[in-house]
Amino acid sequence: FAQAPSVWTHPGTGIVFNTWSAYPAQTQGGFTLGLALPSNALTTDATEFIGYMECSSVKNGANSGWCGVSLKGPMTNSLLITAWPNAGEVYTALQFATGYAAPANYEGNAKITQIASTVNSTHFTLVFRCQNCLQWNHEGVTGGVSTSAGGGQFGWVQAFPSPGNPTCPSQITVNQHDNGMGQWGGAFDSSIANPSYSAWAAKATKTVT
Ligand code: HEM
Repeated sequence: FAQAPSVWTHPGTGIVFNTWSAYPAQTQGGFTLGLALPSNALTTDATEFIGYMECSSVKNGANSGWCGVSLKGPMTNSLLITAWPNAGEVYTALQFATGYAAPANYEGNAKITQIASTVNSTHFTLVFRCQNCLQWNHEGVTGGVSTSAGGGQFGWVQAFPSPGNPTCPSQITVNQHDNGMGQWGGAFDSSIANPSYSAWAAKATKTVT
């Protein structure tokens, strides 16, 4: 896990994240993923996390674009989190791809609930709890992230157009991403596993569907 994180406190919620970023030279507007894990996650594999995504709308303005994260690195055979803004809300879809084509809806029991979000003319951000997201089973294709390994391989993508059917996450349509992509091996700082995790997770009460 080559890439050390930045340790960053989200100002609105006080949640302490490990963050990794792609810079504007790689993707217009930049991209950031943050992760926070349950307090024992560095010794016992966690099943859930609190995530932070900061994604770009720089090309087409407020409420445009989408971004995605692969929880294992590649687009294929990894749980994918796709996020996009619409009318001031940030929507998400849990997706899964077995090839390099439009992903399907993830068929496992993972669940996203929101803690905070912002939408402005250049970016959208989301702080969210992702339960049952670190081990997956999509129609028999299994995998996962072992948080006790001390890091993970992750992937990111961004796209300029908005998805089709943006207010119906199970029916979005996307074209192939056109604002950069990449993978990185992210090392975890010990601050990623925080005693306050349960209290933070309890703030995830909002569902945007
Ligand atoms: C990479 C196609 C949607 C996540 C790739 C690559 C292709 C592709 C061909 C590899 C390109 C290369 O290596 O040069 C597509 C098509 C899509 C689509 C045709 C829809 C029609 C998505 C969505 C996500 C996603 C919705 C959500 C997270 C990724 C990631 C990578 C990637 C993380 C980089 C890692 C890798 O190369 O495997 N995609 N994609 N893609 N895609 Fe997609």
